[in-house]
Amino acid sequence: QGDDGEKGDPGEEGKLGKVGRMGPKGIKGELGDMGDQGNIGKTGPIGKKGDKGEKGLPGIPGGKGKAGTVCDCGRYRKVVGQLDISVARLKTSMKFVKNVIAGIRETEEKFYYIVQEEKSYRESLTHCRIRGGMLAMPKDEAANTLIADYVAKSGFFRVFIGVNDLEREGQYVFTDNTPLQNYSNWKEGEPSDPYGHEDCVEMLSSGRWNDTECHLTMYFVCEFVKKKK
Ligand SMILES: *[C@@H]1O[C@H](CO)[C@@H](O)[C@H](O)[C@H]1NC(C)=O
Ligand SMILES: *[C@@H]1O[C@H](CO)[C@@H](O)[C@H](O)[C@H]1NC(C)=O
Repeated sequence: QGDDGEKGDPGEEGKLGKVGRMGPKGIKGELGDMGDQGNIGKTGPIGKKGDKGEKGLPGIPGGKGKAGTVCDCGRYRKVVGQLDISVARLKTSMKFVKNVIAGIRETEEKFYYIVQEEKSYRESLTHCRIRGGMLAMPKDEAANTLIADYVAKSGFFRVFIGVNDLEREGQYVFTDNTPLQNYSNWKEGEPSDPYGHEDCVEMLSSGRWNDTECHLTMYFVCEFVKKKK
């Protein structure tokens, strides 16, 4: 008998064994923790209007009121009256300012504005003056042409200008009392004044001047000197 042979190579991996039997049932676990609170559900639809309730019992009558005092209404009426006047004045000023902005002509030195309110010569003078101006005095060709163009383009036929002979018959002056020495633009045949009644002057849309009666009412032109810078 020979010697033992060498140890052989390890054999191949054996096949997977059979599935074992199911283990025994485990012991029942403990009660789980309480779950988190659920989210708030959606708001339900608005319910129908309920039926009208029955009329309640009448309340207990209130106590007797204090004796009344005499209202000092006269004082308030006066205040309201004054307010009305102030508001009316403001409205007039606003209207004037709006119109001025809407339609005004200007030269280097002055603004000219046709006031579209029919007034007598004296009322026109006052109207221009209380607004810080004067009834327009066209003292040269340029000013006269500008005013005439303004009158014609506005579709008017005549306007009062600041020329009159109220002080001395036949001696026409501008309303600042300067004489018409350097410039005038009378319509031919004017000033005519047959009865001495035509002491005021209107400018026609042609730019020509015509003496007329001061009490007549018509539109007029105010001039405002520009503030020097
Ligand atoms: C007439 O024009 C002259 C020369 O420009 C001037 O010196 C004079 O003051 C003017 N007169 C009037 C009344 O405007
Ligand atoms: C000039 O004024 C007079 C008096 O108001 C008037 O009768 C006459 O029609 C005027 N002339 C013109 C051309 O408007």
